Amino acid sequence: MKGVVLAGGTGSRLYPLTKITNKHLLPIYDKPMIYYPIETLVAAGIRDILIVTGGRNAGDFLRLLANGKGFGLAHLDFTYQEGEGGIAEALGLAEHFADGKKLCVILGDNIIEGTIAEAAEAFRQQERGAKILLKEVADAGRFGVAEMQGSRIVGIEEKPLQPKSNKAVTGIYFYDATVFDKIRTLVPSRRGEMEITDVNNAYIGEGTMTFHELEGWWTDAGTFDSLLRAGTLVAKSRRGVEKPEMARAGAAD
Ligand code: DAU
Repeated sequence: MKGVVLAGGTGSRLYPLTKITNKHLLPIYDKPMIYYPIETLVAAGIRDILIVTGGRNAGDFLRLLANGKGFGLAHLDFTYQEGEGGIAEALGLAEHFADGKKLCVILGDNIIEGTIAEAAEAFRQQERGAKILLKEVADAGRFGVAEMQGSRIVGIEEKPLQPKSNKAVTGIYFYDATVFDKIRTLVPSRRGEMEITDVNNAYIGEGTMTFHELEGWWTDAGTFDSLLRAGTLVAKSRRGVEKPEMARAGAAD
C-alpha cells in the first residue's frame, strides 16, 4: 500500500501565519506539522509516499523533507496542486503515483496520538472498496459526520448544522484504485470544492465502505484554536513518555 499526504490549500483560516509560509510547515510543538502525518504512515508500514502541495512555498517541502530517508522512506514523491479545488481534487493528482495500488490518504493537518497500523492491516486484507477512521468529538459540526444505523454507516454529511451523530470522519482514508474513477464523476460543492465526502458517499452507495474507530486523541490543526490544541496535546503526550525515564534518572542519582 502506498501513502499520500495532502498538503495543498492556502491555509486562509490561519492568516497571517500563512502569509509567508505554508500551513503544513508551521510548528506543532517541536516539529513542522507535515512531519506528523508522514510519521503516522511510516508507523503503519507505508514507506512509499507522495506529498501533494501547492501555493508559493512548495519548494520548501523539498528542502525540508529531501529524499525522505530521514523518515525511513523507501521513496518520496512530490506534486503540485494549482489553486485549492478541494481535497478530492488534490487526491486526483495521485493517480499516476498510485499505479493501481491501494492507498492510505492523510490530510497534512491531521495529527493523532496512536497508530493506524491495525486499520491499515485490515484494509490490506479487504478485497475492495474503502475504509475511513471515525472519532467521537464534541464539535462534530466542524467535520464530515457519519450517519449510523446500528453498526452500519449509511452516509456522511459535510459540516452539518445538525449533526446526526457525534462521530467525525477523520482525515485518514484508505482507498482502492477505483477512487480515481469516482473523483472524475464529482462536481464542485456549494463552497466550490471537490469534496472528499462525496467520494466517501460513493463508496457507501456501492456498499464497499468499512470503518474503524480511532483510539487515542485526534485533532486537525487548521484553525488558531486547533493549532494550539494540537501543540498542547503533542507536548503532553511527549512529557507522558518522558516522565518514567526522568523518574528512573532521578532514582539513579
Ligand atoms: O480534518 C478532517 C476533516 O477534513 C474532515 O472531517 C472533513 O470531512 C474534510 O472535508 C476536511 O475538512 P476541513 O474543512 O477541515 O478541510 P480543509 O479545507 O481544512 O483541508 C484539510 C487539508 O486538506 C489541508 O490541510 C490540506 C488538504 N487540502 C485541502 C484543500 C481544500 C488540499 O491538499 N487541497 C485543497 O484544495
